[in-house]
Amino acid sequence: MFAVYAESFSSDSPLDGLVVGDRPDPEVPDGWTTVTVKAAALNHHDLWSLRGVGLKEGALPMILGCDAAGLDEDGNEVVVHAVVSDPSWRGDETFDPKRSLLSERYQGTFADKVAVPRANVVPKPESLSFEEAACLPTAWLTAYRMLYTQGGLKAGDTVLVQGAGGGVATALVSLAHAGGLRVFATSRDEDKRKKALDLGADDVFESGARLPVKVDAVMETVGQATWSHSIRALRPGGTIVVSGTTSGPKVDDAELTRIFFLQLRVIGSTMGTRSELASLVNLLDSTGVRPLIDRTLPMEEAEEGFAAMAEGDVFGKVIFTR
Ligand SMILES: NC(=O)c1ccc[n+]([C@@H]2O[C@H](COP(=O)([O-])OP(=O)(O)OC[C@H]3O[C@@H](n4cnc5c(N)ncnc54)[C@H](OP(=O)(O)O)[C@@H]3O)[C@@H](O)[C@H]2O)c1
Repeated sequence: MFAVYAESFSSDSPLDGLVVGDRPDPEVPDGWTTVTVKAAALNHHDLWSLRGVGLKEGALPMILGCDAAGLDEDGNEVVVHAVVSDPSWRGDETFDPKRSLLSERYQGTFADKVAVPRANVVPKPESLSFEEAACLPTAWLTAYRMLYTQGGLKAGDTVLVQGAGGGVATALVSLAHAGGLRVFATSRDEDKRKKALDLGADDVFESGARLPVKVDAVMETVGQATWSHSIRALRPGGTIVVSGTTSGPKVDDAELTRIFFLQLRVIGSTMGTRSELASLVNLLDSTGVRPLIDRTLPMEEAEEGFAAMAEGDVFGKVIFTR
């Protein structure tokens, strides 16, 4: 079948290991099913994989892609949940030490078909296009859990979203606005700051700029470049929720003094549960909030999308269609 996959790793030149070609049809273990992919979304995770982060050499070649929407074996329209937990695991699957994301241990979604556990398909409402639905399983689910599960935020709270242009960040701005939060966003780029206002941000700032008030929470996916600013932006007792380190995981100053003195809470967040994905799908169905799509490309032209993400030249999600 047609597939976009990683053949090798390169930390400096990740696209060198990307192949648009053919791979065998997926194996379908007991209790699993296949989904015919109609649309899949690109995530920074796919670039990390090509850099050899989170993927082992022995797993190559690996079909990339965590996110997909398509048709199940009975022709029902579905969204694929990307977190695969051990069959024996009960409870929140993001806490399963043996969990993996599609394209880490099991083949990913940038292909004609993807095999997933039966429990990993969620019905797609008619109101969402395949392209919109494909945005949800990673970036949007991560944003949803950061704000409302890990962040515990509620209408009226003030939140800062760092790096407004990213897939997770645009989801954070849209979902926070939909939830009645006051939303501040930063970006290095003036055009992206303007677009964040269109998405629902109440105010936008250059990266690192002083904010007019301290915030209840910061949603952090940028890491090294913004960490110190994030900590300094918080009110006493405020919360930073971190789910990514795009600019690097090592910080010059972890701001430990500020963290203990102001009694800040630092909370990690990773992906979300199937049940959170179903709630997110319902939220979009009932509110009309829709993912922002930067560009839609035929899957054969996937390399263009990877290159744009590597350059930081995206605002919203990059979608590949079949
Ligand atoms: N834990 C999880 O479950 C989970 C799930 C999804 C994603 N993630 C992680 O979250 C991060 C974002 O993912 P994504 O798919 O949204 O990536 P993305 O679309 O590539 O977004 C990255 C954003 O980071 C900002 N940025 C990058 N370098 C920066 C720098 N030096 N200074 C300031 N801002 C910088 C940019 O914002 P501006 O250009 O607007 O400044 C950019 O738009 C990645 O590290 C990813 O691995 C984690």
